[in-house]
Amino acid sequence: MDRDSSLIREALRQQLEADRLLGIKSVPILLPPRCGPDAGSRGGRLARSRTAAEQAEQLRIFNETEVKGCTKCALSDTRTQIVFGQGSPSARVVFVGEAPGYEEDRQGLAFIGRAGQLLTRMIDAMGLTREEVFICNVLKCRPPGNRDPSADEILACSPFLRRQLAIIEPEVLVALGAPAAKTLLNTAESIGKLRGRFHDYYLSGTTGEGPAIPLMPTYHPAYLLRNPAEKRKAWEDLQMVMRLLGLTLPGGTSG
Ligand code: URA
Repeated sequence: MDRDSSLIREALRQQLEADRLLGIKSVPILLPPRCGPDAGSRGGRLARSRTAAEQAEQLRIFNETEVKGCTKCALSDTRTQIVFGQGSPSARVVFVGEAPGYEEDRQGLAFIGRAGQLLTRMIDAMGLTREEVFICNVLKCRPPGNRDPSADEILACSPFLRRQLAIIEPEVLVALGAPAAKTLLNTAESIGKLRGRFHDYYLSGTTGEGPAIPLMPTYHPAYLLRNPAEKRKAWEDLQMVMRLLGLTLPGGTSG
């Protein structure tokens, strides 16, 4: 490990230790201010105070020290392994699903089953690769039989997701399905009503407080496999994300 990494590691260790002493279990990363004169407007990138290597290190340490071995809820009794999520720690876009399924629980990777294959095609269609985005879930452990996550499980696990997002600081979030959208936006609104427009995801966890990241809710790939006619709407949602990122849309225009 080089000297910078050691310093970051030591600073993080001290921060974790101080927060533990204060009884804080979920530690917010110090967030840099928004940059530019239109700070706070949609699509602006949060000013980066950290390099990609530092973000990778923070994510790794967070996983090692706080997520690994978690026993915050009863899913720890039935899981094969925790599915932290994977991709680029400095991704411009993060996709958030519901919870690992059978295959994900077996292999320890998010979205690698049938729904994951469709997600890969959706990401490809956007002109991106799985390696350059980050893919994770609200729950890091599989609910037995793929049942819906309980409110208690979401409450126990969502601080992990919030912390991941604070470290990655993506330009845009895509919430795949109702549980992800409802958790991140703290709403009871249906996915049908939420999708099709950007919402603000507040890194502080409190609506209206501090910097926000635009979040696009869309249908979960598993739902799309069962309801292929809805793929068109999901594609419209993803094209809005592409526009926000300035990616080239089908037909050659860029957003
Ligand atoms: N469905 C999800 O929500 N997440 C996965 O990782 C796989 C299937």
